Amino acid sequence: PSCVLAYSGGLDTSVILGWLQDEGYDCHCVYVDVGQPCEDREAILKKAHDCGAKSARIVDVQEEMIRDFAFPVLQWQAKYEGIYLLGTSIARPIISKACLQVAREVGAEAFAHGATGKGNDQCRFQLAAEALDPTVKIIAPWRMKSFRDKFPGRTELIEFCDIKKIPVKASASKPYSSDENCLHISYEAGDLEEVDNCGVKVPDFGMGVSPQEAPDAVEEVSIGFEAGVPVSVNGKKLSALDVVQTLNTIAGRNGVGRIDIVENRFVGMKSRGVYEAPGITTLYAAHLQLEQLTLDRDLVNLRDRISPEVARDVYYGFWYTPKMDALLAFIKEAQKPVTGEIKLGLYKGNIEVHGRKAEHSLYDAEIASMEGGGSYDQTDAEGFLRLQGLPSRVQGTVRPRSY
Ligand code: ARG
Ligand code: SIN
Repeated sequence: PSCVLAYSGGLDTSVILGWLQDEGYDCHCVYVDVGQPCEDREAILKKAHDCGAKSARIVDVQEEMIRDFAFPVLQWQAKYEGIYLLGTSIARPIISKACLQVAREVGAEAFAHGATGKGNDQCRFQLAAEALDPTVKIIAPWRMKSFRDKFPGRTELIEFCDIKKIPVKASASKPYSSDENCLHISYEAGDLEEVDNCGVKVPDFGMGVSPQEAPDAVEEVSIGFEAGVPVSVNGKKLSALDVVQTLNTIAGRNGVGRIDIVENRFVGMKSRGVYEAPGITTLYAAHLQLEQLTLDRDLVNLRDRISPEVARDVYYGFWYTPKMDALLAFIKEAQKPVTGEIKLGLYKGNIEVHGRKAEHSLYDAEIASMEGGGSYDQTDAEGFLRLQGLPSRVQGTVRPRSY
C-alpha cells in the first residue's frame, strides 16, 4: 500500500516516515508550505528522500490559503470564542487538500499526519480529507496505542532516528509546542499549561514585539479594500499574501495582535495558548471600520449573529461542507459594498482609526448632523415612538409596574 504524509521535516514526522515504511507503506512526502519557518527547503526534500520516501515535494499554498480561506473568514469577522482569529485552524483544510491532490496523482490510498489524538488539528485534517475523498484511509500514528507504546517520549523518537540513520538536528527541546504560518504563531504546552503563568516572555515570538517594547510613537497605515477583500497597503496594490506579510511587519513592530487564551478544543478539553497574529488582527480592525460606513444595519446584524457559528465550524474543521459553501456565498454577496480605504494608527498594541474613505458610504452627514437640515424631519420621530411604545402603554395600563 502507499500513502501520502503531511511532512514537516521535524522529529515527529521523520519518525512517522520511518515507521510507516516498517508498516509496509510506500511513502510520498508532501511539505505543504503555509509560511512556516523553513531554513532550507532543499534540505527537507533531501532528508525525506534519504529516509526512504518514494517521492517528496513542496507545495506552496500560501496565496491560495490567504485569498480563498483566510479572507472569507475575515469578511465574516469570525473569532473563535470571541477572540481567536483562527490562524492555525484555517491552514488545516488546505494542507489536507494539497496532500490529497498528491495522493490522487501518485495513486496513494492513505493520508498520514502527525497530529495528536488530543487536539483540534486531527479533526481538521481528517474532516477535510474525508470530505474531499470519502474513501481515503487516515493514518494518525499518535492515536494508535502500538505507536505510542513504541515511542513514549522524545528519547525513543531520537533512538529510532539513530537506528534508521535519520538526521536529527541537535535542537534543544523547545519550551513550547508552536505552530506557525504566514497568518499567525501559536504557543502551547510547557509552562503555559499553568494557566496562571501570565505575561510570560515567550522567547521566540516570531512576528513582533510586545507592546512594552514597541516604539513610543504612533505608526499610521492605510488599508484598501475592494468588495471586502484587502487589496492595498499604504496605497500600494498587493497580492493577498503580500498584504498579510506587509501588515505582519508593520503591526508586529507595534506590538499588535497578541492574545493569551484558554479555549475549548473540539474534543472537549480546555487548553491554554498564547498567539500572535499582527497582520490579520489589523485587517479585522480596518475591515470592521469600513463595514461601519458601507453595510446596511440589518445585514450586518444578521452577519454578526451567524459569525460565531462560522468561527466554530472553521475551528472544528467543517470547511468542506455544504453549509460552509453557502456561508461563503452569502458573505461574498454581503461584502459587495465594502470598498474603500481605512487609515489606522498603531500604538503599543492598540489600534486607533485615523481616517475613513468609502465611495459608497451610507453615512450621511446631513442626516446625522445636530445642526438640523437634511432629509430627516424630527416630527417623524413623534409617530415612530408613539407606535414603538404602544405595547408598553397597554402593558402599563393592564399590569402597572411598581417603581
Ligand atoms: N489551539 C490552536 C488551534 O486549535 C492552535 C493549535 C496549534 N497546533 C499545533 N499543532 N501546535 O487552532
Ligand atoms: C496536536 O495535538 O496535534 C496539536 C494541538 C491541536 O491540534 O489542537
